Amino acid sequence: MSGGHSAPWARGLAVLLVVMGGLAAMPARAAGDDEAAIASHLAEYLRSARTVISQYQDLINDPQKGDKGLTPDRVIAEATALYEQVTGEDPMATDPAGSEGRLLRAQMQAIRDVMAEHEAEINEPGTGFKGFIPAVFARLVNEKFADAAGSEARVKTTAPADLVRNRKARPDAWENAVIEEKFEKPDWPRGKGFSETTEVDGRPAFRLIVPEYYKASCLACHGEPKGEMDITGYPKEGGKEGDLGSAISVTLFQ
Ligand code: HEC
Repeated sequence: MSGGHSAPWARGLAVLLVVMGGLAAMPARAAGDDEAAIASHLAEYLRSARTVISQYQDLINDPQKGDKGLTPDRVIAEATALYEQVTGEDPMATDPAGSEGRLLRAQMQAIRDVMAEHEAEINEPGTGFKGFIPAVFARLVNEKFADAAGSEARVKTTAPADLVRNRKARPDAWENAVIEEKFEKPDWPRGKGFSETTEVDGRPAFRLIVPEYYKASCLACHGEPKGEMDITGYPKEGGKEGDLGSAISVTLFQ
């Protein structure tokens, strides 16, 4: 077209074609975005709830105090507040019939159930350390979540293979490869997750794994000196603040 000017009808057609192209391309892209958002929201809600349990470790382990008031409702309310700070989204505003809404609600129910099952133990006066630590809480929540939604989605806390304490947390081949070939590389951007559509148990699945690093609060158990027993009876890993120490892995079956 000479001079770069096109007739109005031609411009209109061009716009229409662009819009249609966009629409035609949308389903696949939207599905991918959805999966990435759902997986990262499940990881984030687990992390928020685990943070609540972490913040109350002193309270949980206080031998002087009976009722700690750490009810399922309170844990959910505080986890939701943390989650909203990070994601800017209200988990209860999701469509309860949609994939994200169902999975987040199943995860919240798993958290409620774990808290309800451990309330008596947490409220037991006279015992100090109770072993109700964030990692155990997260594992129990993930197990309950798998009971409810495991054919649709799974959430797992894992770690670099040489750091794993509980064999249930061992990284599978895919997780191990991402940890070793990406997260442990010095040039991998800190905190950046990795996602891929692949297969799990022979089924096509979207997978997301997010790295986490030791904080000062982790080192009483995972820090130095390596090999010394921690309060839970496991040998310390010799980790340092900032070391890669954990990863949250989410599977969404397609
Ligand atoms: C009070 C001691 C203690 C503290 C503090 C602690 N952990 Fe752990 N951690 C454990 C124990 C015990 C397990 C095994 C839990 C189980 O039975 O599944 C564990 C398990 C884990 C796991 C799951 C993989 C595995 O090894 O089984 C990760 C990841 C982890 N811890 C990371 C952390 C991080 C990150 C922090 C700090 C934010 C932290 N831990 C703080 C004791 C601790």
